[in-house]
Amino acid sequence: MLSNLDQQPADALLALIKLHSADPRADKIDLGVGVYRTGQGATPVFGAIKAAEQKLVDTQNSKSYLGPEGDMGFVHALMPYIFGKGDPTMSGRIDGMQAPGGTGAVRLAVALAKKSGVTRIIMGLPSWPNHAQILGDLAVELVSFKHAGADGKVDMDALRGAIAAAEAGDALLLHGCCHNPTGIDYTPAQWDEIADLIAAKGLLPILDLAYQGLGKGMEEDAYGVRKVLSRVPEALIAYSCDKNFGMYRDRVGAIYVMAETAEVLNRVLSNGHALARAAWSMPPDHGGAAVRLILEDPALTAMWLDELDTMRSRMAHVRARLAEAGSAGAIDLTPLGHQNGLFSVLPLSGEQILKLREQHGIYMAGSGRVNIAGLTSGNIDKFIADLAAVSG
Ligand code: LMR
Repeated sequence: MLSNLDQQPADALLALIKLHSADPRADKIDLGVGVYRTGQGATPVFGAIKAAEQKLVDTQNSKSYLGPEGDMGFVHALMPYIFGKGDPTMSGRIDGMQAPGGTGAVRLAVALAKKSGVTRIIMGLPSWPNHAQILGDLAVELVSFKHAGADGKVDMDALRGAIAAAEAGDALLLHGCCHNPTGIDYTPAQWDEIADLIAAKGLLPILDLAYQGLGKGMEEDAYGVRKVLSRVPEALIAYSCDKNFGMYRDRVGAIYVMAETAEVLNRVLSNGHALARAAWSMPPDHGGAAVRLILEDPALTAMWLDELDTMRSRMAHVRARLAEAGSAGAIDLTPLGHQNGLFSVLPLSGEQILKLREQHGIYMAGSGRVNIAGLTSGNIDKFIADLAAVSG
């Protein structure tokens, strides 16, 4: 039977990790997979995480099973950051469960939507490639619209049109902040309109919040999620701590459900538990427990927020330098100055992207997505010069 399987290509984004590390050139530049890098090009473990992990080693007295929902202390500790300190449960209508990273959370959200009767998910393109892969794997139809125009701005007309053409029972997947791959986010005024449109049409929002704190700030980056939730009766929120706590390989995420009543919420979560049990049984504990220890300790929380501030300001600095450069050959770099988070997309052809990799040792996704955090004061001039060389 097994020989019936066709060979699958390696995931294009993850394959870049290996390609880059096999490249012997000293001046190679990794702008591929989305991990934060310091000005020295490193992706260190957060100091707050190291301290929490030490505490975990010293105090954890069992590794016995927790259950499919994972560490609910972790799940609840994040809620004031996502949903606001006032009433993070929206009077008992929001609760969640832990998931293996943002991917696990998105997968569970889509599986729950499908189990509730959703057959189509509307989504802006380009998007994180794994969104479409998850939809394909779960056999949910993807209905696409154009996320942004060539002017580097959100294409609101395309979004309005997609919502207008939607049918009751469709879901709409939106990036909460730091749009991956474009870095082009909705403004608060646009979120206000989107929230009203979703509510008027009765769509189920699936909000993917994978980069909270890497855009404008923890509070600012939650604006869209909170606005949508204030207008609609129900929603699914996929959350990742892989970037804002630097937990990448430890796979730390959560899925939250907002339902019309506490009774419905309970029922939805029971389905979430059943789906998780059949898929991964329960999420890995270590990273979630470390995040919980940070959020339970004001000194560690302050340390974490400070580290997040440093990351955000470094990325803002890199973006400002690119925008100041103005252009690189035919590429206008100025829009990158006001985009958000780790990513932006450069208008490069496949041939130019290959040339950058082969001739200049610059690695980026095939979509032209660059990870801004891969640029440092030591390599940014080379990057701009090489970009100019290939785009002429
Ligand atoms: C990325 O987009 O680079 C990250 O979200 C890593 C991943 O899992 O794709």
